[in-house]
Amino acid sequence: MSRPRTPPGPAPSPHRSPPRTARGTAPWTAFGGDLHLDLGERRAAGAGLRAALEDALREAVQDGRLAPDTRLPSSRALGEDLGIARNTVVEAYGQLTAEGWLSSRRGSGTTVAERAAPRPAARPVEVRAGRRPTGRHDLLAGRPDLSLFPRSAWLASARRALAVAPHEAFDYGSPLGRIELRRALAGYLARVRGVRTDPDRLLICSGFGQGLGLLAAALRGRGAGRIAVEGYGLPPQRDTLRAAGLGLAPLPLDCSGARTDLLAELSGAGEGAGEGAGGRLGAVLLTPAHQFPTGAALAADRRAAAVRWARGHDGYVIEDDYDGEFRYDRQPLGAMQALDPDRVVYGGTAAKSLAPGLRLAWLALPDELVEPVAALKEAADTMSPVTDQLTFAELITSGRYDRHVRRCRLHYRRRRDLLVAALAERAPRVRVTGIAAGLHAVLELPPGSLPEAELMDRARAAGLVLTGLGWYLAGRNAAPDAAPALVVGYATPPDHAFPAALDALCEVLRTA
Ligand SMILES: Cc1ncc(COP(=O)(O)O)c(C=O)c1O
Repeated sequence: MSRPRTPPGPAPSPHRSPPRTARGTAPWTAFGGDLHLDLGERRAAGAGLRAALEDALREAVQDGRLAPDTRLPSSRALGEDLGIARNTVVEAYGQLTAEGWLSSRRGSGTTVAERAAPRPAARPVEVRAGRRPTGRHDLLAGRPDLSLFPRSAWLASARRALAVAPHEAFDYGSPLGRIELRRALAGYLARVRGVRTDPDRLLICSGFGQGLGLLAAALRGRGAGRIAVEGYGLPPQRDTLRAAGLGLAPLPLDCSGARTDLLAELSGAGEGAGEGAGGRLGAVLLTPAHQFPTGAALAADRRAAAVRWARGHDGYVIEDDYDGEFRYDRQPLGAMQALDPDRVVYGGTAAKSLAPGLRLAWLALPDELVEPVAALKEAADTMSPVTDQLTFAELITSGRYDRHVRRCRLHYRRRRDLLVAALAERAPRVRVTGIAAGLHAVLELPPGSLPEAELMDRARAAGLVLTGLGWYLAGRNAAPDAAPALVVGYATPPDHAFPAALDALCEVLRTA
């Protein structure tokens, strides 16, 4: 390939000129900023040198990159930077001065003319995804108190982890994630949640949301057409499942959790059972420790029924253990995965115990799913970022994570007790459920109260940010007689904001 021809003119000085990129692009260092003049494209389109320079300058003034009064480099300096003759710059400056874009005064060089109006600013781009409702009192379920993030412990662990990490830790690595974290998690999950796994079967992902998407794609790849979901659940999770091409079959809920005894029946029902695509029922997504959002723990016979169904139908149970660390009243319920690690995928996340913004979560996979899910993770993003994985591994092995979780558990339990006491005193008709664990409660109103939509309107007017139970409903027929109810994330506000949020909530409920 021949090199592009260098335009005629003085040779660039090795001292003054910034490094020139291909085809006449020069970083405009004279401004100390990042403005670039790219003549290459215009030259390639057939423009002469002078015309290309005039166009590039005109455009920079027009779109505001060169503000009025900005001093331009001398014709000599710009000629050298661009590798073109000084005279070409003099002529281009002269032309643009005549057109009114530039102004030239003897002794003070060439500047951008005062009246050269920039183009009106581009319309702002609005990104709706991820935008959260705003209000004075944030009681939206699903997040921890972010002021509790263990900054000092995290910093200490990051420092230690980075000091001892081998060089290869910063390379592309296994899609399963860093071995240090998989080892630490295998031990932690066995000890705290009774999970039966090992580092080779653990995959680190960017949030449980990503893990669920990978699982859904893997199940689809194995011929699943449908997945059973709980009658109430997180709408974005259902979106993820649908996006992977799975149809959804909602399971009714009662005080013992999801009706997993109906799975065999749903399997046989095939097309038409539930929403979306038909086909084989390949899995069920459950929140056994603390049903999200209603709060029931999945009863032992329901756990057994789900595992029995999975074994008999070549299916899988996906266990979303999103807040398993936060159990207050009873003995901690172990993970359901221990019943059958070949049929139950265990999913955990740091979203509640540390912070959702970390995007750190993990799957303990049955043997048959390790390879396909790891391949999908590699295709998605190679692997999750290593520095946070190394830090989290150190946080666990140093014992700091246990101490942090214990501290949070006490904090959230106190919050829950305050909520329950305030409601008992100020809105005694409200039934509080789902409070044995987790970071949220369901507040159910008695018959004859306001309909849920109206209740939500009043809550919004009082500056409360929360959701009605109906928002979580999986199918229109899943709960035809449900009472109006609010889902309240009592962990969300920092301490100083909690009493005011509680006051506003009680006032809305008192008059509902
Ligand atoms: C039911 C449930 N599962 C899982 C998660 C965690 O998801 P992620 O790890 O993607 O933040 C949440 C977070 O709100 C949740 O509510």
